[in-house]
Amino acid sequence: MAKIIIEGGHRIEGSVRIGGAKNAVLPILAASLLASSGTSHIEDVPSLLDVRNMAETITALGATVQVTGSTYQIRATDIRSVEPPLDLVRRMRASFVVAGPLLARFGEAVMALPGGCNIGPRPVDLHIKGLEALGARAVIEGGFVHFKAPRGGLRGARVYLDIPSVGATQNIMMAATLAKGQTIIENAAKEPENVDLANYLNAMGARVRGAGTDTIRIDGVSAMHGATHTVIPDRIEAGTFLLAGAVMGNGIYVENAVSNHLTPLLAKIQEAGAEVADDVTGVRVWPAEGSRLRALDVKTHYYPAYPTDLQAQIVAGLAMGLGTSTITETVFENRFMHVAELRRMGAEIQVEGRLAIIDGIEKLSGAQVTATDLRAGAALVIAGLMADGYTEVMGLHHIDRGYDNLVGKFQALGANIRRVEDDE
Ligand code: UD1
Repeated sequence: MAKIIIEGGHRIEGSVRIGGAKNAVLPILAASLLASSGTSHIEDVPSLLDVRNMAETITALGATVQVTGSTYQIRATDIRSVEPPLDLVRRMRASFVVAGPLLARFGEAVMALPGGCNIGPRPVDLHIKGLEALGARAVIEGGFVHFKAPRGGLRGARVYLDIPSVGATQNIMMAATLAKGQTIIENAAKEPENVDLANYLNAMGARVRGAGTDTIRIDGVSAMHGATHTVIPDRIEAGTFLLAGAVMGNGIYVENAVSNHLTPLLAKIQEAGAEVADDVTGVRVWPAEGSRLRALDVKTHYYPAYPTDLQAQIVAGLAMGLGTSTITETVFENRFMHVAELRRMGAEIQVEGRLAIIDGIEKLSGAQVTATDLRAGAALVIAGLMADGYTEVMGLHHIDRGYDNLVGKFQALGANIRRVEDDE
């Protein structure tokens, strides 16, 4: 079985470059389906399983995707299907965001309902309600949702989201670009990835205002075209390295980290004793004294609060913290599966519903552990760097979904880490 092997205890130093944000690229690739003319050039696309899945999804619909290094060239002039292949949608929940562009441009989309997921049920009811508000009919049958626009196409409307869902905001924003009249999304998700998507849509000829605030206004246009866009850096990848630097670094520099996107993480690691300095090209972090974080209380919430996607990594850091920390996960149910794995390494963590109580110990010990989801995988790698002895992390397909060359980047920082493939 493929695994990552880490010999813990080696400090990391030097500089690491962060790639484009996975959660921005995925909707941006989907948005490319809105262009009835021209070619899009998307730059700084990370090499990730999820990104390849999305590229495969839009290719299956008839788009052409050419990859040169980290640039994707996309042409969507000859789309021939509005039904993404079942296995691709099932594999990745995020592919549900092709519904909005397909519905907007072709008046129809047939989407498999995403299956269960390791971090809770994650329904798509808000996506469906939002698209219905724009006039679409949604018929759910046999595990599929069949969306159909009214005669004359979607029409602008006021949509209030019960929860500021990232994906639902994207789907509705994209659907509204080609709708007649104005759409107003209230209680919209404010994540930087959604701002990046809005910037790309505007470069394609859309009229989107207010992305990054609670209220997004979209004035429908009649057609959109390809555009050139550079994806924003991945704040979760950056945060993962910053956390590793806060516990095992000798002053590492995370190039491309945007400190504005990372405010809650930087505040928390500083509160825990780490030092941080940002400049225009990145963020440098020095470890807490004795490399043990002071105890923290952390609560995940929607942007701009502390992100759920950096919850597992800070739990790993605090497992060797000084004193008792609490972590409250408010975004997803069932997102503490990494705790059982960290306990195999000696961590003293109790979970009660959405609360984890961590009693920091002096030293984790290496063990065989398994990534249960993408960010849990990153947390186990951080724990492995901190632990005594050898840690083996399995379940690498989760890590490959969202980290481009995680092992190579830690190697370049001087960690004793390697990846062994199935047949070695
Ligand atoms: C996105 C991110 C993911 C991140 C999450 C929260 C992508 C590809 N993924 O996921 O990495 O962890 O935001 O920051 O960008 N919900 C509903 N009904 C819906 C939609 C969502 O009840 O129709 C609930 C979800 O179950 C969850 C909460 O809303 O509890 C937030 O989910 P959402 O913001 O939609 O997350 P995703 O877009 O799936």
